[in-house]
Amino acid sequence: MRHVWHRHGGTHLKHPELNAAAALAKDASDPLAPYAAEFHHPYDSTGRRLVYLAGHSLGLQPKAAGDFVEEELADWRRLGVLGHHAARRPWIGYHEHLAAPLAELIGAADSEVVAMNSLTVNLHLMMVSFFRPSAVRTRVLVEKSAFPSDRYAVLSQLEFHGLRAARDLIEVEPRPGERNLRSEDLLAAIEREGEHLALVLLPGVQYLTGQSLDLQPLIAAARRAGAMVGLDLAHSVGNTLLHLHDWNADFAVWCSYKYLNGGPGAVGGCFVHERHARPSKIPRFAGWWGHDKATRFEMGPDFIPIGGAQGWQISNPPILSAAPLLASLDIFKRADMRRLRDKSLSLTGFLEQLIEALLPGTIEIITPKSTAQRGCQLSLRIVKPASEAKRCHSRLADLGVIGDWRDPDIIRLAPAPLYNSYSDVFAAVDALTRAIHP
Ligand SMILES: Cc1ncc(COP(=O)(O)O)c(C=O)c1O
Repeated sequence: MRHVWHRHGGTHLKHPELNAAAALAKDASDPLAPYAAEFHHPYDSTGRRLVYLAGHSLGLQPKAAGDFVEEELADWRRLGVLGHHAARRPWIGYHEHLAAPLAELIGAADSEVVAMNSLTVNLHLMMVSFFRPSAVRTRVLVEKSAFPSDRYAVLSQLEFHGLRAARDLIEVEPRPGERNLRSEDLLAAIEREGEHLALVLLPGVQYLTGQSLDLQPLIAAARRAGAMVGLDLAHSVGNTLLHLHDWNADFAVWCSYKYLNGGPGAVGGCFVHERHARPSKIPRFAGWWGHDKATRFEMGPDFIPIGGAQGWQISNPPILSAAPLLASLDIFKRADMRRLRDKSLSLTGFLEQLIEALLPGTIEIITPKSTAQRGCQLSLRIVKPASEAKRCHSRLADLGVIGDWRDPDIIRLAPAPLYNSYSDVFAAVDALTRAIHP
């Protein structure tokens, strides 16, 4: 598992505290370091272990995931349909095992959380209930660089209600010459749109820049304006500390394949604040798994929703997609999100420090510098030579470092505190220097 480090013209000598030995020393005193052994780390075709900094896209596989999936396959083999009640974890309520650990991660009550579907599907289901335009309140406020799927979802919902994006989609963007959103601009837009706002939809962590928004005042402002507030937490859950119940968002949606390590296409999640818990007049798209559990199998004609977030379920849960997530959430529980966040700040800070010291003037880090405004991810632009940026990223991949490239010119690297080490971060920056100065 040791990396071979390259040395460049004495660069490391100028920064004696920023070298391989220092990284190893940090690893040796990291109480969370043992968790890395609970994950499968990818290798290339020559057997070289890759330096995996792509947890913002797809988290690594927990070693226990195979056992959790195999347990369900075995129960299915052994029991067939009887597994719904007789499996070691009965399938009928399998998703409920996910609610408590997810609630812990997002700062919510168990009843406010449900694992179901995937992110965009959940976003649509939430908008069916919480984007209810009236004659005056017709508008949805988003950030201009919102993840495309969110944008498509919002545009299609506007169209569904016979509204026009040109008037009813309010987009807030960074100021000219700036990369990140300013809270004051979002707040000003919320205030300006006021009584016209039906929904404010914000990211926790912006997927492209890695900026983590200060959500509480934004949620409060949107609610003061009389709007509903929804959050896309794809890049926040399992990454930053969240207090959704206290922050008072109306709903939130997320996927589980990034920092939550639930596996490709893993079952997503949804938060509905408890003030909407009582089965009321809130319209929703209903299905039998959202029906009152006590009478679900009476197969009656009328829908009676379960109170809380579970009342938004439509179908019975996908057991084989939930099992790896359960394995991963067990690791989160043991590692503790607060300790993970502390390590994350330190790991990402180390990445930043190395880039600034070893590649001065070469890379622009567009993620905010303030630790309160970022999670694991740093988004980088290679500015010298900018024309080489994409080739640098390819060379970085050839050197065994897995991050990703987002057009037009962004490399995203995200050390994940559950399975990345300080040595991984050092190896990545060492490879980056070779990719930029081949
Ligand atoms: C910020 C964000 N929103 C939405 C999505 C879409 O997720 P899904 O394919 O689960 O609907 C993604 C996927 O990566 C994302 O990063």
